[in-house]
Amino acid sequence: MNRITKYRQLSDNEYEIWFENDRIAKKAQPGQFIILRVDELGERIPLTIVDTDKDNGTVCLIYQVIGKSTKKLSTLTVGDHILDVLGPLGTPTEIKQYGTVLLVGGGVGIAALFPIVKGLKEAGNKVITVLGARTADLIILKEQCEAYSDELIVMTDDGSLGEKGLVTDAMERIFKRETVDTAWAIGPSVMMKFCTLTAEKYGVPIYVSLNPIMIDGTGMCGGCRVSIGDTTKFACVDGPEFLGTDVHWDEFIQRMKQYRDEEACSLETYQK
Ligand code: FES
Repeated sequence: MNRITKYRQLSDNEYEIWFENDRIAKKAQPGQFIILRVDELGERIPLTIVDTDKDNGTVCLIYQVIGKSTKKLSTLTVGDHILDVLGPLGTPTEIKQYGTVLLVGGGVGIAALFPIVKGLKEAGNKVITVLGARTADLIILKEQCEAYSDELIVMTDDGSLGEKGLVTDAMERIFKRETVDTAWAIGPSVMMKFCTLTAEKYGVPIYVSLNPIMIDGTGMCGGCRVSIGDTTKFACVDGPEFLGTDVHWDEFIQRMKQYRDEEACSLETYQK
């Protein structure tokens, strides 16, 4: 179990792996995630389930190396085993017929968006997908998203792929052009905040997927708490998806930066 069957480097610091886990492959639904450990002293890493192959009992993850733990994960390759994997966790995305849906993914957030694109298309929605990143090489899963989208727009900061501009520019254009029933945005916190403000301006409900620090992943430690409306929720069990207009963005963005220095220091020490 948890033996890696495929390994692919997608960009400078983004990797795709497939590993064997029959139970997770059979049970996973769009929007859910797993928590894994690479070794006994390892940090618990939450990662969205990108895709599954139910026939082969394999599960796909895409991750970005941002600290010591993800660096360690990137050293595992085909034939290696992940020490332990917990999941599927989290409340799945509500997949149903909405009508026209707009899905916006930024950077490695595209990995978490893809299963929702796929699920909503299979449920009979008209799917418009917008993918954004700084440069062309950071746009991942373009062909896979295209296969399940009625329209796919790519936006890059430097114009090296698709159009030059921000994902919110594309959102504005779509909202002016046609009625969108529901939207999703998954990517960096600041991107999700501005996608929310854009959707709110046009009165379109928008869901975002929050990725705070997680420890147990089962609602017991409180590490993943987020302020949603006037209540505190746990992203691991109540989310990770929430209505973007209910998220206290400034507090969330601040909390996401909380351990940045420690992460950088830990990675530096590990690499010495
Ligand atoms: Fe512990 Fe969510 S990760 S409560």
